Amino acid sequence: MSYPLTRMRRLRRSGHIRSLVRETDIGVSDLIAPIFVREGLDSPLPVVSMPGVTVQSLRSLEDEAKACLDSGLRTVILFGIPADKDALGSAAYAENNIAVAAVRLLKDKFQDDLVVMADLCLDEYSDHGHCGVLGEDGTVQNDETLLLYSKTALLYAKAGVDFVAPSGMMDGQVGAIRSSLESAGYHDTAILAYSAKYATALYGPFRDAVDVTIADGGDRKTYQQDIGNVNESLREIALDIEEGADMVMVKPAVTNLDVIAKAKAKFGFPLAAYQVSGEYSMIAAAAAAGVFDGTSVAYETLMSIKRAGADAIITYFAKEIAKHL
Ligand code: PBG
Repeated sequence: MSYPLTRMRRLRRSGHIRSLVRETDIGVSDLIAPIFVREGLDSPLPVVSMPGVTVQSLRSLEDEAKACLDSGLRTVILFGIPADKDALGSAAYAENNIAVAAVRLLKDKFQDDLVVMADLCLDEYSDHGHCGVLGEDGTVQNDETLLLYSKTALLYAKAGVDFVAPSGMMDGQVGAIRSSLESAGYHDTAILAYSAKYATALYGPFRDAVDVTIADGGDRKTYQQDIGNVNESLREIALDIEEGADMVMVKPAVTNLDVIAKAKAKFGFPLAAYQVSGEYSMIAAAAAAGVFDGTSVAYETLMSIKRAGADAIITYFAKEIAKHL
């Protein structure tokens, strides 16, 4: 019997050896925890389609942020849900709206100990559920929407947000926001761009959480990306970098690991990935049904996202995994 001179198993013999040669790891500083905060809520509200996820009230927000910090996390991304929605999504850019109040509260309380990002979009605020304003023909109006995104970004910046995160996939959204921030003197407000965001049914549970129904059974295929494309993602990312993004993002994560890998290789730019609500709920629901150990599967998916090339990951598992690390 002949033995090979090189045996891979020598490096797998023990946990210490495996970590010595491990190529990828996840640290708590890589994870971003989403927080939903809803206006007019008396007490935290569980999201039925996302077992383990809760919508916060303005009053419970501080405790939730504190729980994130206690688990070792340093970054959160806020999603505001207004009490009233209208066709123009006007609660999104009303002074002291729910998202602005949430940013102000967290930055007052935790300063630089907590990095605060805020999702910037109209869908949570509009009664038709689209990410932009509609024209008379019912289609989303790109350039009119950019003006409203710019207004919203200025409010977030004034409240002290660290990152504004435009998620509506309007063309030119990063450039429009960057120039409004610059002209108002907010040179230090960073932009996390949802650059390559695909149209997918995986956002279903999120829409449940933020109480969004797209009017007339519609979808977002006229502004979010087609799932068959990858070069389009690279073009979207290139444009956002040119327009002044500080960090770019691919979303969803596990269904787009190829996009993450290509984006990292091509741009070498700070890159985030969003493990979205549907990705979370698939694992959480299977775990609740006793199919497998949810924390282990969640950890494995996060490793695959990091290995593909993401620097940071937005995930509803952030707190759970942070405790497990
Ligand atoms: C838009 C936005 C969405 C998500 C984040 N920002 C919903 C959408 O585009 O329909 C989805 C996130 C998730 O599914 O977890 N404001």
